Amino acid sequence: MSLTNKKIMCIVGARPNFIKIAPIMGALNGAVPLTLVHTGQHYDSAMQELFFQQLGIPKPDINLEVGSGNHGWQTGTIMQRFEPIIDENNPSLVLVVGDVNSTIACALVAAKKQIPVAHVEAGLRSFDRSMPEEINRVLTDQLSDFLFTTERSAKENLLQEGIEEKRIHFVGNVMIDSLQNHRLKAIPPIETLKNLNKKILLKELNKNYAVLTLHRPANVDNPLVLRDILLLVQSISEQIPIIFPLHPRTNAALKKNGLLEILEQSLNIIFTPPVGYLEMLGLMDRAKLVLTDSGGIQEETTALGVPCITLRDNTERPITVEEGTNTIVGTNPNQVMVAVHDVLATGGKTGCIPELWDGKAAFRIKEILLN
Ligand code: UD1
Ligand code: UDP
Repeated sequence: MSLTNKKIMCIVGARPNFIKIAPIMGALNGAVPLTLVHTGQHYDSAMQELFFQQLGIPKPDINLEVGSGNHGWQTGTIMQRFEPIIDENNPSLVLVVGDVNSTIACALVAAKKQIPVAHVEAGLRSFDRSMPEEINRVLTDQLSDFLFTTERSAKENLLQEGIEEKRIHFVGNVMIDSLQNHRLKAIPPIETLKNLNKKILLKELNKNYAVLTLHRPANVDNPLVLRDILLLVQSISEQIPIIFPLHPRTNAALKKNGLLEILEQSLNIIFTPPVGYLEMLGLMDRAKLVLTDSGGIQEETTALGVPCITLRDNTERPITVEEGTNTIVGTNPNQVMVAVHDVLATGGKTGCIPELWDGKAAFRIKEILLN
């Protein structure tokens, strides 16, 4: 199937989608007519607008303004609002990225209308169906005509699920395209903290701090689990200061359960609203250690050569452990403390850059779609 002179409709909805779509739209721009649909799954300025500005993503042509809600409601509402958009625009291909509700919702509508679907970041599997993302990944891949993978394990997963080999294309990682395109523009941590009016420890922070992000429902939705994690973070902060940009899901859970106090009382924890992409790159690049349950951050730390302790029991991105700087530790306090001490004592894993994480993944996607 050739798409030359045809129309590609790109879909975004949540924070990690913006980072993935930026290099793809950059590569396709001028080669084929593009339409950008934003589902509105993420809507706070700090979760989306800022990323459009910093990454130079064009203004969305259409915003479905779905907002937050339960899974069924959110997925169904995106589908309802997306269907007439497909009818009006009649794209030749719908391109979705990642594993969020916006990804599956738009892929499902397109597939039912027999519009070809391209899935960027196909084939990643945690084999944990309690994660909503895992369900989105499996279903989106079943619906897709072009499956673009970031690591070789993804192809094995897809073949196991009966997907035809000719649909699978190992292209590398668009998240790392963005990282390479913006690393030199990253904002130094001192500036980020100054702008946030966080005065403490500014001088001492140079290369001697950890960055933390948390937003997985398994870690933040249950107040008892969240409290235990915060107490653990408090203990870690006695070893090394922690910068903690709060995801809105986490912020809401902290407020609702009266847990913000734990952070407020911890002098060595600097918690902030979500930071922009250039701020985050700067923070991670100079950190001694990153603690996270994010998918994308496991990959970015590997690309930056910064040790990453993943506060989950599994990963869908095994290359970051096998070749990169990632260690899957879970949230058991003893195990996390051992892992932190190890990084502080030895400097942690150095790793190497995985195959095809070379900043050219979007270019390969373009070549495949257009030829
Ligand atoms: C979503 C994705 C997750 C991804 C994450 C990236 C799904 C099922 N989950 O999780 O895979 O890792 O985005 O960040 O698609 N909220 C705001 N403002 C916003 C957005 C959200 O306040 O702009 C709050 C609302 O209280 C909302 C909650 O965050 O209920 C969760 O938002 P939602 O998009 O449902 O899921 P995420 O946890 O963001
Ligand atoms: N990120 C950011 N600011 C933050 C936290 C994360 O710019 O305050 C970036 C991060 O560097 C990565 C992406 O957001 O590029 C990851 O998104 P998130 O962790 O929300 O989602 P996931 O990757 O887990 O789906």
